[in-house]
Amino acid sequence: MCCDNCVLSQTTADANSKRVCAYTIRMRSIPTPPDAGVIDAVRFGTDTFRYLGGIQTRYDDALQIPIPTRPPLVIVTNPTLARDLLSRPDDFGRVPARETDSLIASQGLVQSEGELWEQQRSVVAPAFSGRQVAAYADTVGRRVEALAEEWADRDDDDIDLHREMTTLTVRVATEVLLGKDIGRERAVEFHEWMAVAGEELEFGIDIATPEWLPTRVSPAFREAAANIRGLAEDMIKDRRESLANGEHTGPPDMLTILIQREDDPDVEYPENQIRDEVATFLIAGHETTALSLTYTLALLSDNSDVRDAVRTEAREVIGDGPLDHDDVDRLPATQRAYNESLRLYPPAWGVFRQANHTTDLGDYDVPDGAATIVPLWSIHRDARYFESPDTFDPSRWERRGPTSVDAYFPFSTGPHACIGRSFALSGATLALARLVADFDVDVASGALDDLRLTPTLRPREGVPATVSTPDDR
Ligand code: HEM
Repeated sequence: MCCDNCVLSQTTADANSKRVCAYTIRMRSIPTPPDAGVIDAVRFGTDTFRYLGGIQTRYDDALQIPIPTRPPLVIVTNPTLARDLLSRPDDFGRVPARETDSLIASQGLVQSEGELWEQQRSVVAPAFSGRQVAAYADTVGRRVEALAEEWADRDDDDIDLHREMTTLTVRVATEVLLGKDIGRERAVEFHEWMAVAGEELEFGIDIATPEWLPTRVSPAFREAAANIRGLAEDMIKDRRESLANGEHTGPPDMLTILIQREDDPDVEYPENQIRDEVATFLIAGHETTALSLTYTLALLSDNSDVRDAVRTEAREVIGDGPLDHDDVDRLPATQRAYNESLRLYPPAWGVFRQANHTTDLGDYDVPDGAATIVPLWSIHRDARYFESPDTFDPSRWERRGPTSVDAYFPFSTGPHACIGRSFALSGATLALARLVADFDVDVASGALDDLRLTPTLRPREGVPATVSTPDDR
């Protein structure tokens, strides 16, 4: 073997007949679609769903879409390569914030990197410790029971399931992280702001246009972003006042932690840092969980045998009593249904990075500046790892093998993996248990056929459903 890197145990001749290490020639270019060009890039931007459909069967590792005037777009379909990419933040960094992102927050935990990110993550980490997450279950329980009472009064009513789930999760997130329930009316407004943001942030032709071309931000988006920021600012102002005059009692929540660390000489806060952090958590803390609950209830509506199994388990474990964090581990069928929904409809459908320099990924060269996408939507539906990958089959998680586990990471992986994972998993399991135990949520068939790819996977026009009390309740 000629060097430590040489895996082929051989050398070969270059054009000048010098002996060079075979390792240097085994790096490959990432394959490009045969008809790649402007049209292909436009097709990806404007019909991303169709483009991604089955892409993992045509490109088993990755593919590269050349974009005129820009570095290419790289889509990584192999889970091992994807995990490698996501664990190397120095080589694959955050995608720079666009004007739309900056209007809401430009340096919250979801956007920051390097030292600022490390510091921010350690500041908020205590709010996500096991003990804190267990304590959050009380709030989840209270909010879900309140929703169940509302639904009981609206028997046989038509609802927009996505809106109902957003109002639930945004109220939980604001209460546990920021110490204040914003109330139903404000939560419904929040849902509307997120719908406006979703329209603006949908993948589009701009992925294939030159970077210097200005993007137009709609007045409706500016207004929604200003409302989200305004809500964050109001909550911070109230808390500063109540901390200053000693009115705020009880254990410190995330907002108190953020404000108190401002005086810590070891923590550097850039301007607007707390506002950006709160605005970030207002969104990250509820949106994906709301989507996951919506998709799970819609899938259960279509799969009554699974719904019955979840219902039987839930009634046995939680009965009529208050929801308790200790119940989470006693709800395996509910957890399996939820995991399977996160596989088929991952709310964060893709994870985005940008190559900081020319680098390698497995055997491949990745060009400097390449935008990279790890499409969880496609990886989670890969027949190499999941039998009948398009079928909703929670029982697969009873017999799951290591290969399917490797190809499943709805909360991402690596240092930027979701900080709210345990909170989301326990809160969603308890919410599902109560709602499935007490209600038939019947979702119009085909409601999940028209989804929008924004940074998250969102229903285009809501999810119409009917909620009623089962005959045996
Ligand atoms: C089903 C629910 C959820 C899903 C599917 C989800 C998914 C994800 C994914 C895929 C990432 C990685 C993004 C990346 O690497 O670029 C992420 C990051 C993050 N999530 Fe979640 N999430 C969920 C719930 C939550 C909750 C409840 C919170 C907060 C209370 C939260 C806060 C965050 C934050 C702050 C980050 C950035 C972490 C960092 O970069 O250090 N998420 N989430």
